[in-house]
Formats: sequence, C-alpha cells, structure tokens
Amino acid sequence: MTYKASFRVWRGDAAGGQLHDFTVEVNDGEVVLDVLHRIQATQASDLAVRWNCKAGKCGSCSAEVNGRPRLLCMTRMSTFDENEVVTVTPMRTFPVIRDLVTDVSFNYAKAREIPAFAPPPDLAPGEYRMQQVDVERSQEFRKCIECFLCQNVCHVIRDHEDNKQHYAGPRYLMRIAELEMHPLDVADRRETAQAEHGLGYCNITKCCTEVCPEGIHITDNALIPMKERVADKRYDPLVWLGTNLFRR
Ligand code: SF4
Ligand code: F3S
Ligand code: FES
Repeated sequence: MTYKASFRVWRGDAAGGQLHDFTVEVNDGEVVLDVLHRIQATQASDLAVRWNCKAGKCGSCSAEVNGRPRLLCMTRMSTFDENEVVTVTPMRTFPVIRDLVTDVSFNYAKAREIPAFAPPPDLAPGEYRMQQVDVERSQEFRKCIECFLCQNVCHVIRDHEDNKQHYAGPRYLMRIAELEMHPLDVADRRETAQAEHGLGYCNITKCCTEVCPEGIHITDNALIPMKERVADKRYDPLVWLGTNLFRR
C-alpha cells in the first residue's frame, strides 16, 4: 500500500535553520530513512543525512523523530498514523554540521579520556583466564553500536552545555563500569569515575536505557552497580580505617 506522508525536516547549519515541509510517498515496510532518501531523490538532493548500514548496526543514522532520539533506519513508518506529521530533527546535544548531521566528536574525546584495560603485569596475553560469568557480565555492554542516542538524551548534558567538560555520559560511564567489573583489570577506577568522569551527575533518570537501540540495561547493569562500588569504597569502614589511621 502506498500513501502520501507529511514530513517536516530540519534544515540548516551551525548558524541556524528551520523546519521544511515535504509531502512524500511512503510504501509498505519502509522506515524513516527510506522516506528521507526519497526526499533526497525527488525534492531536496542536497539534504544531509548520515547513514551506512541501514540495519541498525553502524550507529550512524541517529536523529530525533517527533522529538524522540531514534535510529532513522530502525524507525518503521508503520509506527505513525498516515495523517500524522513526522518531524525529523538532528540530535540536540551535539553541534549541527548540516541538516540532520551532527558533530559527535565530543564522544570520541570522552572515549580517549578513559584509561585502557590494565591487565596484571605478570600475566602475558594468552595466559588470561576468566570465569564464564564474568565474560557474560560485560557481553551486554559490548553490544553498544556507539549511536550516541544515550549521550544525546541524558539531561545532564542535553540541557547543560557547561557539564560537557566534566561528564563522560552514560555510554562512557558504562565503559568504566565494564572495566571495573573485569576480573583481570587491576586499575581502581572508582575514584576517577566520580572525580573525573562525572558519575555523580547521573541521577538515574534511566532515559539512556529507554532509548538504547541495543536494549542494553545501561542504568541498572552499569551505572547503578558502578555507583554502589564507589559508595562501598568511600563508606567501607575497613577502607576508612586504612586511609585515615595508617596514613599517620
Ligand atoms: Fe547507542 Fe546504546 Fe551504545 Fe548508548 S549504549 S551509544 S544508546 S548502543
Ligand atoms: Fe543520564 Fe542515564 Fe543517568 S539518562 S542521568 S546517565 S540514568
Ligand atoms: Fe546504520 Fe542506521 S544506518 S544504524
């Protein structure tokens, strides 16, 4: 079945822009990215939209559809009524390059700030041994496709540009948690998670988890356990005695 849909697409650049109206054909089984490609092919050949795999695996096509952070290639047109206006805007948290394409380099800078996996110095690669349960714990986090929708939705930086400097965001706090939970990682990441990567800014709103296209339980399985580990270190009476008595 084919019908005509009303689309509103934000067009502009760093200097500003506005929503443009399009009436465009939609066919059975199509996703929002298909319709944007049809707009490109028939009405606005210079419309900028980033995409790569069209299969929900590369994380390139992140944007906001009717105000909700989504992958354009995984948002079915059948989600909307035929009469509903579909509004597509770029991710709000990152600077616009052009139209629907944003500059996500903030995320790569945050990734570089996290110290790499630190195995015990006396173990050579190939000698690492782990329990299956530990392998499984971090498997979930490794499904991340780096779409940055969680980073985009988290109010700590979405609404407060100033916080960007001090906050790694859910994707990279999850990476810290993954390393902290790794049985062979010898670095203690609890102090820096709080002091340098802004774990304390997260107040567990869970919006990150709600928008994750991989269904990763970012809040429950990474952020809350990481907060608990930080609290254990700070309020553990033995740790307190160790740091306050033996320092004298
Ligand atoms: Fe995207 Fe989920 Fe990874 Fe965040 S954790 S970047 S939402 S895949
Ligand atoms: Fe932000 Fe997720 Fe915490 S949306 S406040 S990182 S639970
Ligand atoms: Fe790859 Fe959408 S185009 S995730």
